Amino acid sequence: MTATGRPTAAERALLIRACELAARGVGTVSPNPSVGAVIARGGEVVGEGWHAGPGLAHAEPVAIAQAGDAAHGATLVCTLEPCSHTGRTGPCTQAILDAGIARVVVGALDPLERTRGEGVRILAAAGVEVVVADGADAARAREAASAFLTWAASGRPEVTLKMAASLDGRVATRSGDTRWISGPEARARVHRWRADMDAVAVGIGTAVADDPMLTARDVDVAVGREALRVVLDPHARLPLGSALLVAPAAAPVLVVAGADADPARVDALRAAGAQVDLTDAAHGASFLGGALEALGNREVQSVLVEGGPTVAGALLDAGLVDVLAWVVAPVVIGGDGAPVAARGIGADRIADAPRVAAPRIERLGDDVLVMGRLRPVPDAAA
Ligand SMILES: NC(=O)c1ccc[n+]([C@@H]2O[C@H](COP(=O)([O-])OP(=O)(O)OC[C@H]3O[C@@H](n4cnc5c(N)ncnc54)[C@H](OP(=O)(O)O)[C@@H]3O)[C@@H](O)[C@H]2O)c1
Repeated sequence: MTATGRPTAAERALLIRACELAARGVGTVSPNPSVGAVIARGGEVVGEGWHAGPGLAHAEPVAIAQAGDAAHGATLVCTLEPCSHTGRTGPCTQAILDAGIARVVVGALDPLERTRGEGVRILAAAGVEVVVADGADAARAREAASAFLTWAASGRPEVTLKMAASLDGRVATRSGDTRWISGPEARARVHRWRADMDAVAVGIGTAVADDPMLTARDVDVAVGREALRVVLDPHARLPLGSALLVAPAAAPVLVVAGADADPARVDALRAAGAQVDLTDAAHGASFLGGALEALGNREVQSVLVEGGPTVAGALLDAGLVDVLAWVVAPVVIGGDGAPVAARGIGADRIADAPRVAAPRIERLGDDVLVMGRLRPVPDAAA
């Protein structure tokens, strides 16, 4: 790889714009990365593009096509290293060279073996000036493709843990009543997230207690892009009469069961229409690690885990949560028997407790959303 120099202030601003463009692919782009690209010449933007999904043009050729002849001698700013391989579409490096682009600013390197550093090397070898962003610019670019980068680096999806809790941290009353702790605006946001993710998961306790559908409702979902509905069910005890199995819905259901699951129950779930993946482990953190690996093998790059508290606590204890999406509602549930949002072992010292770095805090109706990362997006340059 032979990149030199740093992006100029103007290029850093264009990278922010490219990240905004990349976000337009969220919900349709997987298993490809969300990528955005901007072409500028003489301080003027002449082309913009983003990648919308497998088989469709990549962000760079879209921006090049929009720029037309103006691409010659121009600067291309892209969130992710241009690909150098022929997949479902041709290599972006070739499209960049054919267009006569003079300078390329790369936000983040691609971690996949076939591209890592290769896109930069090919462009630089052909005489293109290549600059790779660093620091906060690179972090922003990695964030734009966070699900893909997490999956590519670890083989598991990016895990977003969503919980809705009262002011005193409870997720149900002592009698098990949960509807509704959060208000309609927060619930609508959850449906938006479901539409954007590759999978939505709950623990078997929640599947039994709430009998959820786990579909995205009252939001646009691209046809064929409905999130896989997942139950984390070590003993394969999902009732055959569950709404997940009997109510019609476009999205498939996957039960992830443990090594000790009763084969007859597994067969019954399959006969009822569920897909079943078995992990090597029977229970505990290894079961959860195996479940995420199973999702990764299915090219699930993002999963919204919607609890319950046992699974939430186990994921936090195992350090398997990438993003927290915590809704706090202005209600006090109280009582010794009302379940808290995260069970399990928990932190011994406050200093060791998982803490969101630079949380985004947003008001959703009367509720407050606290959202942010517990784990950084993997960096292929590291
Ligand atoms: N307010 C909210 O945001 C929210 C969200 C979800 C749920 N809830 C409420 O929470 C309650 C259900 O919570 P819950 O804690 O009982 O259920 P849960 O967390 O959904 O599921 C617990 C079950 O998951 C299985 N499991 C999978 N991996 C595990 C691991 N590593 N460690 C331990 N267990 C694992 C176990 O099944 P086995 O027992 O078969 O081993 C366990 O009993 C309901 O009242 C529901 O309404 C509230």
